[in-house]
Amino acid sequence: MIIRHPQRVPLLAMGMVALLAGLGAGLLRLGWDLPLLPPALAAMHGPLMVSGFLGTLISLERAVALGSRWAYAAPLLSGLGGLALIAGLPYQAAQAVILAGSLGLLAIFLVIIHRRPDLHTVTMGFGALAWLMGNLLWLLGWPVHQVVFWWAGFLVVTIAGERLELARLQLLSRASHSLFLLTLGSLFAGLILMAMSFEWGGRVVGAGLAGLALWLGRHDIARRTVRQAGLTRFIAVSLLSGYAWLGISGLLAVVFGGVPAGPRYDAMLHAFFLGFVFAMIFAHAPIIFPAVLGGRMSFRPLFYAHVVLLQATLVLRLAGDVAGWLPGRQIGGLLNALALLLFLANTVAALVKPAERVAPVKAGRSEMFQEKAVGFLDGKE
Ligand code: HEM
Repeated sequence: MIIRHPQRVPLLAMGMVALLAGLGAGLLRLGWDLPLLPPALAAMHGPLMVSGFLGTLISLERAVALGSRWAYAAPLLSGLGGLALIAGLPYQAAQAVILAGSLGLLAIFLVIIHRRPDLHTVTMGFGALAWLMGNLLWLLGWPVHQVVFWWAGFLVVTIAGERLELARLQLLSRASHSLFLLTLGSLFAGLILMAMSFEWGGRVVGAGLAGLALWLGRHDIARRTVRQAGLTRFIAVSLLSGYAWLGISGLLAVVFGGVPAGPRYDAMLHAFFLGFVFAMIFAHAPIIFPAVLGGRMSFRPLFYAHVVLLQATLVLRLAGDVAGWLPGRQIGGLLNALALLLFLANTVAALVKPAERVAPVKAGRSEMFQEKAVGFLDGKE
């Protein structure tokens, strides 16, 4: 395996440690007996997944895109915060370090927006602001079940901004821009409303999520590129599956409203975090990992295995949640974790031993998409 940027490996590794610890913590919360893990880790599941893993990964990707040394402080801080949670260091210290990491990501976006004040950069800046807000409220003592909606806002708004940038290729109409802003407005209005009415705020957030799912499903170039082959089709299939789960999580939030724990909470959150967020990770991994590490990775049809496994086992888990069928929920959750481990194994295998010949990609929008994405990550825009 050739890695041109080995100095980025420790940052990525911190994110991966948080992911693995977060998976173990999630299984503890589902009632699985994992004697090697400290029981206190269960409470760290959400923060480890959102900030320790995703916050570190997204900040690293943005620091690479910006290309300034100071920007690496953001992934370093959120990664260290994740490690502090795992090590059982004082909770508030870990929270403060993670908060500093999110401040770093916001600073990165302020520089990016200053350079390119476009709708998509501003949108991603709002994503970073949502993470910062969530972390601030968390440090101030808000319970995770309330803060988690801000964290979800961070992820969905950041991803929507990234996709919006690519949607520009399709020349959006004014009406489409307005609808995009309307869905974001509903999301942020719901987040603010939650401070007054947790239940109804959750419903408004859900409407925003469902609206964004429709918008992304309608405008994303994935709708066209899904007819192509190889990596391009794989990315499109993953993205479209993610939008479907985003719609499901939004509808569940509209129906259930804000809930603090239990099967409904589990269904709503994991349709979002596993169904939507991980579909985005599956889609972008073949581009992001080589770009961040400076190595090579090529598409393998085997990648569909982790996508299909996650879809099937998430259906099982949600069916268990909704029907009050505990074994379905527990086994579904365990298999969800296996799907993520399979994804990691497939990704590492493709990085270590890239196939001799990269799967052919037809010319046209798909190439633009890939070049744009890689160019963006390499900071070559
Ligand atoms: C793959 C295996 C996973 C398992 C087994 C799992 C398990 C759980 C369980 C049992 C809960 C508590 C639900 C309840 O109150 O009934 C939970 C909450 C949560 N999960 Fe997961 N989860 C998994 C993946 C993820 C992922 C990938 C993310 C984020 C990317 C995530 C983020 C969260 C968050 C933020 C909470 C709320 C935490 C809290 O209220 O303290 N989970 N998870």
